[in-house]
Amino acid sequence: MRLLAIILTSLKFSGKGMKQLLFLLVLLLVPFSARAQDAVKRDDHQMHRLHRDPKAYIGMLEDPQRDIYQKPHKVLTALDLKEGEVIADIGAGSGYFTFRLAHHVGDKGKIYAVDISPDMILHINRRARAVKANNVVSILAAPDDPLLPDRSIDRFFFSNSWHHVENQTKYLSLIKKMLKPSGEIVMIDFHKQETPAGPPLQMRIAREDLIKQMESNGFGLRKEHTFLPYQYLLLFVPK
Ligand SMILES: C[S@@+](CC[C@H](N)C(=O)[O-])C[C@H]1O[C@@H](n2cnc3c(N)ncnc32)[C@H](O)[C@@H]1O
Repeated sequence: MRLLAIILTSLKFSGKGMKQLLFLLVLLLVPFSARAQDAVKRDDHQMHRLHRDPKAYIGMLEDPQRDIYQKPHKVLTALDLKEGEVIADIGAGSGYFTFRLAHHVGDKGKIYAVDISPDMILHINRRARAVKANNVVSILAAPDDPLLPDRSIDRFFFSNSWHHVENQTKYLSLIKKMLKPSGEIVMIDFHKQETPAGPPLQMRIAREDLIKQMESNGFGLRKEHTFLPYQYLLLFVPK
């Protein structure tokens, strides 16, 4: 701003005229930079507030700006989804990935949209009805149990949700039973380092720690995609 004042002074704007011009520039620039930051970076306090306000939370998850780094189309292409697959989208949230997955697996497939938040489940149910996504089945789950049938799932899909799950060891043993023998677990989450988007650093799980955790709970890393700028995308299979 000081630099701007110097430039404007040197351009012979002075007194009241310059103040008005500066004020206008501030009005134009500040909301833009604040909005840009708001779209990507939040601290603990903001996150807690967002979690209490479902409308704002859904707005954040569905922010079109997110597509730039989340690359949903590229993610789904990389997964090489087959028609007829049964996928459990754990911590489905607003359904950002749920409905894209549903489109890929077709009418013969099924997407379980699993979440512990009644607000998110309500939103997904309304959205499924609105877009006639008959292959989306919502599950209001328990924090430590997705409540799915044994040997029924081709893929578990976790996008920015594993770090929310409680009692992860128990969770992994449950989902191992729910997975078909040929099944897979997809894990997308933020790297544990400063990124322009994502949850507070202390909530994140480092890529290496996740791989170790999966290994020690009976899953091996099958594949890794590295095209996401802020997140890892890891595919695990039962060992
Ligand atoms: C950051 S959002 C991610 C939403 C979505 N996967 C996406 O990428 O847009 C995390 C979601 O996980 C849900 N969640 C938190 N703990 C959970 C648990 N133990 N089981 C299932 N869902 C959970 C939250 O309610 C929230 O909707």
